[in-house]
Amino acid sequence: MNNQVVIVGAGGHARVVIDIFRQADTWDPIGCLDMTVPVGSVIEGVPVIGTDEMLSTLRKEGACFAFAAVGDNALRFRLLQKLQQLGYRLPNAISPYAYVAPSARLGVGIAIMPGAIVGPEVVLGDGVVINTRASVDHESVVESYGHVAPGATLSGNVHMEALAMVGCGASVIQQRRIGTGTIVGAGAVVVHDLPPHVVAHGVPARVRRSIACRQAA
Ligand SMILES: CC(C)(COP(=O)(O)OP(=O)(O)OC[C@H]1O[C@@H](n2cnc3c(N)ncnc32)[C@H](O)[C@@H]1OP(=O)(O)O)[C@@H](O)C(=O)NCCC(=O)NCCS
Repeated sequence: MNNQVVIVGAGGHARVVIDIFRQADTWDPIGCLDMTVPVGSVIEGVPVIGTDEMLSTLRKEGACFAFAAVGDNALRFRLLQKLQQLGYRLPNAISPYAYVAPSARLGVGIAIMPGAIVGPEVVLGDGVVINTRASVDHESVVESYGHVAPGATLSGNVHMEALAMVGCGASVIQQRRIGTGTIVGAGAVVVHDLPPHVVAHGVPARVRRSIACRQAA
C-alpha cells in the first residue's frame, strides 16, 4: 500500500504530526510544503520541498495523501478545502499514546496528539485538532476545524461549533456550547455558553471582545 503523505506546514505543529506518523508507523511523510520555511530545511528528518503551490504538481505526479499540519484554524480550513479540491485523501494523525474510544466518530484530516483522551460517542469533525494532553469527554462534539489546545478539558456533552478554539489549560463544564470561531483564552473556566466570534477568558470566562468574522474560504 502507498503510505506516503505530503505534510503541508513546517512549523511546530508539523513537527508533532510527523512524530505521530512515525510513532504510529502508519504514514510515511515524504516532504513538507511551507510558504515561509526555506526549501532544503529539514523538519524532524523530513525535507521542505517547496510551497503550497506544489500541491497540484505533486498530485499530478501521483501523490495521493496529504495532511494539513497547521495550528491556525482558518488556515487549516482553507488548506483542507484545497487538498480536497485537488483530490487528495486526508488521513488522520492519531498518536499511539492517545486514547480514542471505539464509539467516537471521526472525520478526516484530524490530529490527536500524545496524551489526549477522546471519550465515548464523541464526534470530531474534519480537520479538528485535539492537542497534547487535552481531553474531550463523552458525547461532546467538536465541529470541523476546531482546536482543543494542550491540556484543555471539555467535560461531557460540550459542543464546540466550527472553527472554535479552547486555549491551553482551559476547562469547559458539561453541556456548554461554544460558538463558531470563538476563542477561549488559556486557563479559562467556561461555565456559560459562549456566542460565536468572541474572545473570552478568565475564571469564570467572560466575553472580552468580538472578533471580525473572517471569511474562511
Ligand atoms: C485570550 C487570548 C486569545 C488573547 O486575547 P486578546 O483579546 O488578544 O488579549 P490581549 O493579549 O490583547 O490581552 C488583553 C488583556 O487580557 C489579558 N489576558 C490575555 N489572555 C488572557 C488569559 N488567557 N487569561 C487571563 N487574562 C488574559 C492580558 O493580560 C491583557 O490584560 P491587561 O490589559 O490587564 O494587560 C490569548 O491570550 C490566549 O489565551 N490565547 C490562547 C493561546 C493558546 O492556548 N495557544 C495554544 C497553542 S497550541
